[in-house]
Amino acid sequence: MENKDQLIMTAKAMVADYKGLVAIDESVATLNKRFEAAGIPQTEAYRRAYREVLITTPGIGDYINGAILFDETVYQQTLEGVNFIDALNQAGVIPGIKLDEGVEDLPGFPAEKVTKGLDDLAERLIKYKNLGLRFAKWRAVILIDASLPSEACIVSNAHALARYAAACQHAGIVPIVEPEVIMDGDHSIERCAEVTASALRELFYQLNLLKVELRGLVLKPNMVLPGKDNREKAEANKVAELTVTTLLNAVPASVAGIAFLSGGQDPESASGNLNAINLNYKTELPWPVTYSFSRALHQPALEIWAGKDENVKAAQASFLELGKANHLARKGEFVH
Ligand code: 13P
Repeated sequence: MENKDQLIMTAKAMVADYKGLVAIDESVATLNKRFEAAGIPQTEAYRRAYREVLITTPGIGDYINGAILFDETVYQQTLEGVNFIDALNQAGVIPGIKLDEGVEDLPGFPAEKVTKGLDDLAERLIKYKNLGLRFAKWRAVILIDASLPSEACIVSNAHALARYAAACQHAGIVPIVEPEVIMDGDHSIERCAEVTASALRELFYQLNLLKVELRGLVLKPNMVLPGKDNREKAEANKVAELTVTTLLNAVPASVAGIAFLSGGQDPESASGNLNAINLNYKTELPWPVTYSFSRALHQPALEIWAGKDENVKAAQASFLELGKANHLARKGEFVH
């Protein structure tokens, strides 16, 4: 690995200064689904316009170190003709790219999924690197129910994440590895802790097997939460306790940083939980622990914008406000 120092510097910069990342890498299908729910036409023109709302938010660089893009967005421009990648760089935001190609069934394991996208990964990495993208993301999906996840699901996904991470580093791109234990279901918070611990332990086993440089990698895990159909809602202090215990026991201290996904939590809960983690465990965390949210940073902005030019400023204000809330939560200074 020729560019190890550069990788490590980029990974550090992604989680520096009590700021985090924003995921604006929804696939066409996912963004269209959110548009449909908000009454916005599901066309490329509207998807471009929405991405412009977020990317050109004045002050975005005050709270955001990096933005994860989707392939379609990489080639788009602002209405004034500035490439989105250039607009982000000018705002002090490092541009990155989602590299996984969604999930497919894991044969022989009903309901379980494995992530696609390894086949042509080396070529895609060269293309994106030449376009100026400096980090990437790959998401694995792990479902919980009475008998899931299987060991096969955990091992297959961890191995794919490690193959992807090794390929990224060889191409000079920092990998974000995202093993997402999904909130769907009525499982307890303790069960989420147990499954998250297994997924992370296997992930780091596979990352070490494939000689991935942990100082040049960012982990994007779920917070440890009860299933969304569980009647007991967890207090932020409890979420923080189980999340931190799980991470401390499974994630080596050499990892550059941890940047959570929001996973369907409302913005207030996501910020409240991140705040409790950083406030209650300030002196115990060996890594910066920050945000890499999509919905908890900009779903309200999407709804406010609603596809209308006259709402752009209000939508940007909402995005910035949530950016600030999470920046405060990263410091343990977020007040509800
Ligand atoms: P959410 O924050 O909406 O979970 O999205 C984060 C993400 O990037 C999922 O891959």
